[in-house]
Amino acid sequence: MASGSSKPMFVLFVLLQMLPSTIQSKPTTQTLENFRSLVGYRKGHTVEGLYELKQFLRKLGYINFDDASNNGHKHGNDNEFDDHLDSAIKAYQANYQLNATGSLDADTLKQMMKPRCGIADVIMNSNNSKLINRFGASQYEFFLGNLKWPLSKTHLTYHFRSSVHVTVAENTRSVCSRAFQRWANVSRFTFEEIAEDHIADIEIGFHSGEHGDGYPFDGPQGTLAHASPPTGGKLHYDADENWSTNPGPDEIDLESVTVHEIGHLLGLQHSLVPDAVMYAYFDSGITKRGLHRDDVHGIRALYGLL
Ligand SMILES: *[C@@H]1O[C@H](CO)[C@@H](O)[C@H](O)[C@H]1NC(C)=O
Ligand SMILES: *[C@@H]1O[C@H](CO)[C@@H](O)[C@H](O)[C@H]1NC(C)=O
Ligand SMILES: *[C@@H]1O[C@H](CO)[C@@H](O)[C@H](O)[C@H]1NC(C)=O
Ligand SMILES: *[C@@H]1O[C@H](CO)[C@@H](O)[C@H](O)[C@H]1NC(C)=O
Ligand SMILES: [Zn+2]
Ligand SMILES: [Zn+2]
Repeated sequence: MASGSSKPMFVLFVLLQMLPSTIQSKPTTQTLENFRSLVGYRKGHTVEGLYELKQFLRKLGYINFDDASNNGHKHGNDNEFDDHLDSAIKAYQANYQLNATGSLDADTLKQMMKPRCGIADVIMNSNNSKLINRFGASQYEFFLGNLKWPLSKTHLTYHFRSSVHVTVAENTRSVCSRAFQRWANVSRFTFEEIAEDHIADIEIGFHSGEHGDGYPFDGPQGTLAHASPPTGGKLHYDADENWSTNPGPDEIDLESVTVHEIGHLLGLQHSLVPDAVMYAYFDSGITKRGLHRDDVHGIRALYGLL
């Protein structure tokens, strides 16, 4: 693994269905390492590597090259540090409490190189107005279109189907049961595990690399897990992580990640509140299993009170 023991390791949550189909495969750790060479560049420069940075920021929702105002020029396909990139970087910096200068300082690149969630932080409309509204905001978010389970659907069933065996798997049932109960406690939902050969609303499993949904896992670190918004009902863990139910320094707490991914299954997007379960970054060696009031406000805003 790349990070030293003193450095917190961040893990990545990806939400599959939110990624535009045109998006390229996600940047590998190697691509992210290359961002290091971009320090000091700002609007007006043209330099090798900005193309990858644009794709990276696009994937996270900060930049939209499909905007008609581009006059057909595909700014996503070049290495120009243009207005799109400038405003995307400013937005990214604002979200992560960095100086919103629009230039690629060392702090900004360091933040960008941390493994993190592949799901978009913000969903922009074509003129970025959502993005601008989001400046300074720190709270729960919904998916574009407020994707949710139908109001009549309050009882959700789940089952387990893995293509890879991991040692922690024998504990997954009790871990998931507790994680679901946290959300059940603050919402109108109830959850029930059913047999593998029955049709369930939610399918949970461990997978490695390419596993049939077009979004391959990436081995240790990077992407940790992904889940789909309502009513997709897929929760996949990357089998190549060091999963644990009682994490040591290099291990990932299965229950914390499960609580986070269930939030996506129910319709919550990432929160900007670092202590919220729905925050995109997650340290190894820690647990964050309890719902923050921001998470609770989010689920209640989406579905109403109990
Ligand atoms: C932001 O810029 C100010 C002034 O240039 C500097 O003092 C401060 O350390 C910077 N903050 C960050 C987080 O880089
Ligand atoms: C940007 O979008 C917002 C909301 O969709 C709209 O009210 C506003 O008029 C738009 N601005 C421009 C310049 O298109
Ligand atoms: C759910 O709520 C019950 C009753 O308040 C409580 O005893 C239980 O610990 C809670 N469970 C979780 C997982 O938060
Ligand atoms: C998994 O744990 C082992 C031993 O604790 C450690 O050497 C390795 O770096 C860890 N892998 C990850 C991806 O954290
Ligand atoms: Zn997530
Ligand atoms: Zn998957």
